[in-house]
Amino acid sequence: MTEKNLKFGLVRGMRDIVPGQVERVSFVESCLLDTVTSYGYDEIRLPIIEQAGLFSRGLGEATDAVEKEMYLLDDRDGGKLALRPEGTASCVRAVINAGMLREGKQRLWYSGWMFRHERPQKGRYRQFYQIGVEAFGYPGPDIDVELINIAGSMWKRLGVQDEVTLEINSIGSRETRDRYKQVLVEYLTPFVSDLDSDSRRRLNTNPLRILDSKNVKTQEILTDAPELIEFLDESSTKHFEDLCERLERDNQAYRINPRLVRGLDYYTHTVVEWTTERLGSQGTVCAGGRYDGLIEQLGGVDTPAAGFALGLERVVLLHESLGHPVNTSSVDIYIAIISDESYPYARRVAGILRNNALRVRVHQGGGKIKAQMRQADKSGAKWAVIIGEKEIAENMLSVKFLRTDKEQRSVTLEAAIDLLKHNELE
Ligand code: HAM
Repeated sequence: MTEKNLKFGLVRGMRDIVPGQVERVSFVESCLLDTVTSYGYDEIRLPIIEQAGLFSRGLGEATDAVEKEMYLLDDRDGGKLALRPEGTASCVRAVINAGMLREGKQRLWYSGWMFRHERPQKGRYRQFYQIGVEAFGYPGPDIDVELINIAGSMWKRLGVQDEVTLEINSIGSRETRDRYKQVLVEYLTPFVSDLDSDSRRRLNTNPLRILDSKNVKTQEILTDAPELIEFLDESSTKHFEDLCERLERDNQAYRINPRLVRGLDYYTHTVVEWTTERLGSQGTVCAGGRYDGLIEQLGGVDTPAAGFALGLERVVLLHESLGHPVNTSSVDIYIAIISDESYPYARRVAGILRNNALRVRVHQGGGKIKAQMRQADKSGAKWAVIIGEKEIAENMLSVKFLRTDKEQRSVTLEAAIDLLKHNELE
């Protein structure tokens, strides 16, 4: 292969987000972040690379994220590193390291890229973007409800609230789960040869995950299995009942899904998933729950905790599937230049318009006005401003309407600012 035709493709599971797509992503992301910040949560920024042990200890050795999907790196000085598969363990590590729990309770959010070596498909990528929210130091169901409210407000703000369902469950304490695991394994053992291969393997490593197997035969076998919720101790039951009552009081619709167990080991008590039917098999747009033991397990003082994370790509797909429009143009005004002498005036005009919150692209590269107008049209701008000798001499601007058939107009700069800013030229 010669150097000329050497072409690099995308790494499997990675995506470019090009102009035309990026505007929806930005719009959805800013709606989501505006919602979290409107609840008074503090931002925390976390690194993409962590020690691999943080995740094997935090998420559990037998979870898919650790066992099968982690991107591992050898550090040059001998350490084992990982590209983060999720943000909760990193957030807990950061909070412990910074001594933030000594200062009391914390309510935090983060956003960023996560990496899992999964089988890519629509809505499932190897690099994906999460927005996560975590609350530390709150033992009661009140914070579980607040976290649900935050997600609920996000869906409303985006106009997707009718397309998502809140599913909840309680998986109790670690002791409860250990007891239930034994019972479940005893129940499933006689059916072992009928289980799907993943579930057969999980029978020894992570039997709870069998509950959310998508395999029809396995689901049939599970129909008569004892339910985890029957094994909850008194305090878990009370926590869960209290949560349900509060949701009802808030008119927050929910569905108890007794098979909901989540794929990461750190969860205790409340678990939550927001699902949609519009995205096929990757229908979980947002998920989380309580993880009361994780902080201690990672070396901090025993502190209750709860949180959730959403997959931005999935929320964007959902928003798009509903046909909600977004403004895909990044230009309001395109300035066309009649001759090179027009540039200083054009730059001054562009600067003033930009200071008035208008997005201005100045033509570069010369060429005839007609060709410049084609570029102006392609940029998505609403208006073109044409600057030549006449405009400079008269201290005026010629404004051309690119999206309506209004006549071109000659106006003063002040009038143009006023009109363009308030969209009155449309
Ligand atoms: P998770 O369920 O593994 O939980 O991921 C949360 C969300 O991230 C999923 O519901 C999904 O929307 C998105 N997601 C996960 N994997 C992919 C992927 N391969 N491609 C695209 N989107 C994906 C967690 O990560 C927990 N840290 C959530 C949490 C926060 N729990 C408590 N606090």
